[in-house]
Amino acid sequence: MTTHTAPSAQDQFDDETSRQIEAVYQTPDVIAQREKVLAMLAPRVGETALDIGCGPGLTTQALAVQVGVSGKVIGVDIADPMLSLARRRCENLPQVGFEKCDILRMPYDTASFDIALASQVYEYVEAIDQSLVELARVVRTGGRVLLVDTDWESCVWASSDDARMRRVLETWNTHIPHPQLPRTLKQRLERAGFDDVQVDIVPILNLSYDPTTYSVGMMKVIGAFAAGRNGLSQADIDDWHADAQATGKNDAYFFSLNRYVYRATRR
Ligand SMILES: C[S@@+](CC[C@H](N)C(=O)[O-])C[C@H]1O[C@@H](n2cnc3c(N)ncnc32)[C@H](O)[C@@H]1O
Repeated sequence: MTTHTAPSAQDQFDDETSRQIEAVYQTPDVIAQREKVLAMLAPRVGETALDIGCGPGLTTQALAVQVGVSGKVIGVDIADPMLSLARRRCENLPQVGFEKCDILRMPYDTASFDIALASQVYEYVEAIDQSLVELARVVRTGGRVLLVDTDWESCVWASSDDARMRRVLETWNTHIPHPQLPRTLKQRLERAGFDDVQVDIVPILNLSYDPTTYSVGMMKVIGAFAAGRNGLSQADIDDWHADAQATGKNDAYFFSLNRYVYRATRR
């Protein structure tokens, strides 16, 4: 696995990127993904849940509805702009609390949580194994965890310029230290103290150039990251975007990507 020097999460999730991610995560593609993932975790009324790297709080809110007011949900994140969005979103949910912390060291007692969920978070953590040991510490024996991560090499994205598309995606891969994390997550979870590791995929498939889809929404985020890196100019990114739009006009738009959903039980 390649390890890159990726920008820190605090640097990446500034106000603008946080708002863009919030918008993309409210597209029908990501709403459907969240519903499937939550059904796999199957939170129960009264459970105490941890939303790791809660971002704009969309999953936190959904978890809160499922555990109800007799349960509790804590969302943790390291980026202030994300925490502000999350706090606003959940302000009327008394069972929800938020904490700013690095998931490498969480301010909770051992065995504090019945369930924990991390969607698109561990791929951002350089010290991945240490962070999974910390996850195992805060979840009680028999507790359930669910981790969603992406391998962008599972991405199929039609373009009239495959070399440029590959270059953009290679550059995007460097936004995180573990762009291929799903391939090694089973072994890592077992080493950290989890059993019964299961993996599923939740694919995203977009067949039209539509701003309300995941892939077209992500073009803003990917383009902003890639411009000025790896020899890609803003003009290259503009051309890349225009090409996707033209592909759409020709009814030839095609994007697919796998989310890998790991479930495990605390030993
Ligand atoms: C792609 S966003 C996903 C947000 C949210 N889980 C969701 O699916 O809606 C990744 C989030 O992980 C957070 N994050 C990354 N590394 C972190 C760390 N070491 N400690 C705490 N949060 C972290 C980021 O700040 C960001 O909000």
